[in-house]
Amino acid sequence: MNRLSKSVDSLAPATVITGATHGLGRALAEEFARGGYDLLLVARDEVALRRTAQELSAAYHVEVRTLAADLSTEEGCAKVEEALESAGLYAEMLVNNAALMTAGFFQDQDPEKLRKIADLNVSAVIDLTRRLLPGMIARHKGGVLNVASVEGFMPVPYQATYAATKAFVLSFTRSLSYETMGTGIRISSLAPGTIATGMHAKAGAEYSRYVQYLPAMSAEDVARIGYRNFMRGRKVIVPGLFNKFAALVAPFVPKLLLVPFAGLLFRVRDAEGNLQWPRPLPKPEASMPHAKTKAAERQAKAEAASKDARRIAR
Ligand SMILES: NC(=O)c1ccc[n+]([C@@H]2O[C@H](COP(=O)([O-])OP(=O)(O)OC[C@H]3O[C@@H](n4cnc5c(N)ncnc54)[C@H](OP(=O)(O)O)[C@@H]3O)[C@@H](O)[C@H]2O)c1
Repeated sequence: MNRLSKSVDSLAPATVITGATHGLGRALAEEFARGGYDLLLVARDEVALRRTAQELSAAYHVEVRTLAADLSTEEGCAKVEEALESAGLYAEMLVNNAALMTAGFFQDQDPEKLRKIADLNVSAVIDLTRRLLPGMIARHKGGVLNVASVEGFMPVPYQATYAATKAFVLSFTRSLSYETMGTGIRISSLAPGTIATGMHAKAGAEYSRYVQYLPAMSAEDVARIGYRNFMRGRKVIVPGLFNKFAALVAPFVPKLLLVPFAGLLFRVRDAEGNLQWPRPLPKPEASMPHAKTKAAERQAKAEAASKDARRIAR
């Protein structure tokens, strides 16, 4: 049977929140629970999911279900739909919050991690929205809240990939919000500045100047502002005056000034404030195929010459 043709009456609504075990996702889950919404929380750590679900259902008397899934994979995203179906739920709202960050010189990044960042911060947002939005449109009811970042408004050296994924989230969400006008669906992006969560330390950026010197908001404050404005239908939500100013001004500052300034703030440093430098790469002669060929040619010539010399000597 077509999923959309199932009677909505036989299904119960739930708000799907990704990355709901820590930081902003946990705080957003609390806001939705306080608002009386039943939840499906998604993250990888089953123990943390169970603990979060128990805390929220005890405090707010809502149904909280959990799903342990790696959303950086297509199978992980498919599990969300399966979990909803098997629990007799439909997604009333979707909060795409889970994301990964990496910091430092691009050429030193682990390629596997870079791929994971793109898969989680971009592909999972597209995938889950594509899976759950049609049902919302069919019911003329629901919403999608995509978590972006102030970094999405500007290029950010040393967090190049992460910032670009957040620029994607802003652009994608703005476009969808226009496309779904008049359908009864609200689609918003939440673009916070620095939040005091474990994300920066996990990325190795805890001593960067933006973490040390720029004002950080609490996850609870960002979630409260995000939730309230999402419910009011605001399209782009930037919590905090400093962040609003940055998001407003960044697009108009010449990139010649903006990019080096961002570089100064986001350069990775150690606990003593020393700058991180790129790791030495292997010499081009050893790694470039044409250099290898030339070296091999030189060696073959030398061997031929010594053979000739031996023949003449005999
Ligand atoms: N922190 C900031 O300063 C800041 C600023 C602006 C925007 N944001 C955005 O806010 C959102 C939340 O950030 P945060 O600081 O709260 O992050 P966080 O503390 O690192 O939490 C990330 C959450 O995502 C989950 N997660 C990570 N990888 C996952 C995967 N592959 N599949 C499913 N779940 C996964 C984690 O749980 P498991 O490890 O159990 O999977 C955790 O619940 C992100 O979109 C971030 O870009 C953060």
